[in-house]
Amino acid sequence: MSKRFYLTTAIDYVNGEPHLGHAYEKVITDIIARTHLSLGQDVFYLTGLDEHGQKVQSAAKADGKDPQLYCDEFAAIWETFAGRLNLTNSDFVRTSSQRHKAFVQAVLQNLHDNGHFYQAEYRGFYSARQESFLTEKDRREDGTFDPIYGDVNELVEHNYYFKLGQHQQWLIDHIEANPSFIQPETRRNEVLGFLKNNTLEDLCITRPKERLEWGIQLPFDERYVTYVWFDALSNYASIPAALGDAAVAGPIGLDSKPAAPELWPADIHVIGKDILKFHAVYWPIMLKAMKLPLPGQVLVHGWWQKDGQKMSKTTGNVVDPVGVIEEWGVDAFRYYVVRELDIGPDGNWTDESFEARYSAELANGLGNLVNRSLSMLNRYRGGMLETTSDELAEDAEKWITKARRNYESHQIQAALISIWRLVDRANQYVEQTAPFKLAKQEDQSDRLNEVLYNLIECCRILAVLIWPVIPDTAEKIFEQVNFDGSPADFELAKWGGLAEGHTCNKATPLFPRKDLEKK
Ligand code: MSP
Repeated sequence: MSKRFYLTTAIDYVNGEPHLGHAYEKVITDIIARTHLSLGQDVFYLTGLDEHGQKVQSAAKADGKDPQLYCDEFAAIWETFAGRLNLTNSDFVRTSSQRHKAFVQAVLQNLHDNGHFYQAEYRGFYSARQESFLTEKDRREDGTFDPIYGDVNELVEHNYYFKLGQHQQWLIDHIEANPSFIQPETRRNEVLGFLKNNTLEDLCITRPKERLEWGIQLPFDERYVTYVWFDALSNYASIPAALGDAAVAGPIGLDSKPAAPELWPADIHVIGKDILKFHAVYWPIMLKAMKLPLPGQVLVHGWWQKDGQKMSKTTGNVVDPVGVIEEWGVDAFRYYVVRELDIGPDGNWTDESFEARYSAELANGLGNLVNRSLSMLNRYRGGMLETTSDELAEDAEKWITKARRNYESHQIQAALISIWRLVDRANQYVEQTAPFKLAKQEDQSDRLNEVLYNLIECCRILAVLIWPVIPDTAEKIFEQVNFDGSPADFELAKWGGLAEGHTCNKATPLFPRKDLEKK
């Protein structure tokens, strides 16, 4: 066996329903996973839930539920959601599961035994109502705290700290020597700037149980639970360890399993810009202390707004991904988020731009091409390809090569732009060759056969090219073209796959025209 391409999303807090931001991150990760599958690699895609900590404990309390029950109920919703997005995830991690907890406790014991922790006193201003320590920034000009914090008292707490500071220069050197470790470039510069201009403080990795109960207990001091970020980041390694991957189990002193998938180190952690410091500073240092190799890349995406404003449940300014999927189909949703927004910058969802792309690029672009090509083949030739031809082969090969390069470098938006150049070329070819006119001219019968072949072969190739992004549509095209096998193999994107004498099925619309439906 060989190492699988292993990629992850952030794990979501289970204190609410999934929204556009969560959906976006899972979709881009899925497209990267499917790209590698299509290119012939074994892939392991991990996503899941971050269930411990103050946020979840408070949300469960507000709901009058035991935290475990509260998490179990939400977990079912989130797992269903992964299915709605058509994700190829190989596993689904929940941090309240025994397999995850066992790993975190083994790591804590290991780091404790190796002198990475120390105990110290923390003195600060604590708001019982907010259940958190306040900082100087929370103070008003007159030195008092806002009444929203309720009673604020100075509190002294004993906690365990993880020695981060001593690894600062090592981390700077690693980031400088590995330009692709944090991508895009702007995020890499942000981390380097932070590390070079600040002294890293040690990380408090515990919470006394009297303040927070909902967490993983320290194996060497039962008065404490583990800080939620230490717990959550560990998920990326806890699942490989639980599956028995020797590369991670070995160094922590856990048992490996003979037929376990080889996963660690992760190839890519996909995350949003707000949690960069945790993934690009704390996590690498945790791994170094665990004596585990670092992941290949932290890939950082931007944040979505709706109509130019922050999405917020209280104002109702949100995009409900499930609603969009129910109305427009999962492929329309997947397509829009990655065609509209490149991985990196922030994006803005508007219903107008969603509908415009649906109509121009999906319904009138790809959908119309497939529909009219197959309809003409059925009408004029009873569905049969009577010849082969390579008139559009050169154009197709050009866009296949570009799309492949874009996919390989995870530039999904650029890949789609290349692929739609081929959609446009083929639609233009219909206008130029006018098969509906050729069909009326008896002496143009051979020419019509050629034109039809070029069109249907383009549709078949397009199915392979779009599979990572809109897999359902790709599969429908293969069915309609009646091509055996699955479009999940990039090798099939080669001109000439359809043979003379091949018979296609009838066309059914891929993207129903909503404007017509409503009339
Ligand atoms: N639980 C932590 C992550 C722990 S990872 C070891 C967390 N959870 S979260 O639910 O708040 O966010 C999960 C992911 O969704 C993050 O990567 C975050 O950046 C992303 N997004 C949340 N809102 C978003 C948008 N509005 N737009 C795009 N992504 C957003 O943080």
